[in-house]
Amino acid sequence: MIEPQAVLAPLSRAALVLVVTVHDGDEAASRTRDLCGDLSGLVRSVGFRDLDAQLSCVVGFGAAAWSRIFDSPAPRRLHKLPAIRGEKHEAPSTPGDVVFHIRAGRPDLCFELATQILTRLSGAATPVDETQGFRFFDFRDLLGFVDGTENPTGDASAKAALIGAEDPDFAGGSYLVVQKYLHDLDAWNRLPVEAQNRVIGRDKLSNVEMPDEVTPSSAHRMLTTIKDADGNEIKIMRDNMPFGSPAAGEFGTYFIGYAASPTVIEQMLRNMFIGDPTGNYDRILDFSRAVTGSLFFVPSLTLLDTLGDS
Ligand code: HEM
Repeated sequence: MIEPQAVLAPLSRAALVLVVTVHDGDEAASRTRDLCGDLSGLVRSVGFRDLDAQLSCVVGFGAAAWSRIFDSPAPRRLHKLPAIRGEKHEAPSTPGDVVFHIRAGRPDLCFELATQILTRLSGAATPVDETQGFRFFDFRDLLGFVDGTENPTGDASAKAALIGAEDPDFAGGSYLVVQKYLHDLDAWNRLPVEAQNRVIGRDKLSNVEMPDEVTPSSAHRMLTTIKDADGNEIKIMRDNMPFGSPAAGEFGTYFIGYAASPTVIEQMLRNMFIGDPTGNYDRILDFSRAVTGSLFFVPSLTLLDTLGDS
């Protein structure tokens, strides 16, 4: 029986995303593998101190790192996230060998686990980004909109986020795209709420979708709705977290998207940045700048344990 990592864990009050690059050489690779084998135990040790807080940690690997760390074939669809350049906005592709997506009901558990992980990787890996996210009121992002409503639930969430029989060697795994966005909140807050509603395609206060007839084709929800050849919607699982520092004037959304295939998220990104049709880009980007972007493969727990032992 293949057990996935905690990809489908519910949206939490606190999250910490850690992206590291692994140093060259056998020693660094072997220390990273050892950590993979011990990660479940570490999560249990930290998480048991408050079981109600439901600490979880998902670990994923970038294309450049896989063959350096593991002596095992890479998943077919794992590659470097391509940078996407639209006429006005750009989604960068930034380095990332290993990602840890840590979630819990309390920030201290996330903090402690990240500390333990980095202690284990000291001298073997360098952190390139750490983002501590928090729940903002009723799942609002810092633009003030409820974020996550259209996430699939139940069986549909597993179908959206987990690899199935189409790639049996990697079944129960997932592809994860993370991107850090910084918002220009002064400019956003100068926009009347009716105009903000048209950018997202929902009503800000009530969170109800605007009727399709009056929703601009550039609205975020229109450009991120992807359909297959039969007209069925292809969903992803999003775990976006607000983050920031009022003193530093930093207000952001950390985009975290899981999918059974990376092509779905990449299509959404092309629609947002290049536009559909070209030029009809996502107006959320006039107020939000992507400053990082990486793609990772998240093995099933079953495969992770095997890789950790190798
Ligand atoms: C600045 C960054 C972003 C913000 C603030 C943001 C915010 C939102 C909000 C408020 C919604 C509507 C409610 C909901 O269903 O969650 C939404 C929907 C959605 N977003 Fe984003 N988002 C961001 C980036 C992205 C990116 C990068 C992707 C994919 C590559 C994405 C994919 C989606 C999808 C698939 C939906 C659901 C569309 C639907 O079925 O109606 N978002 N987002």
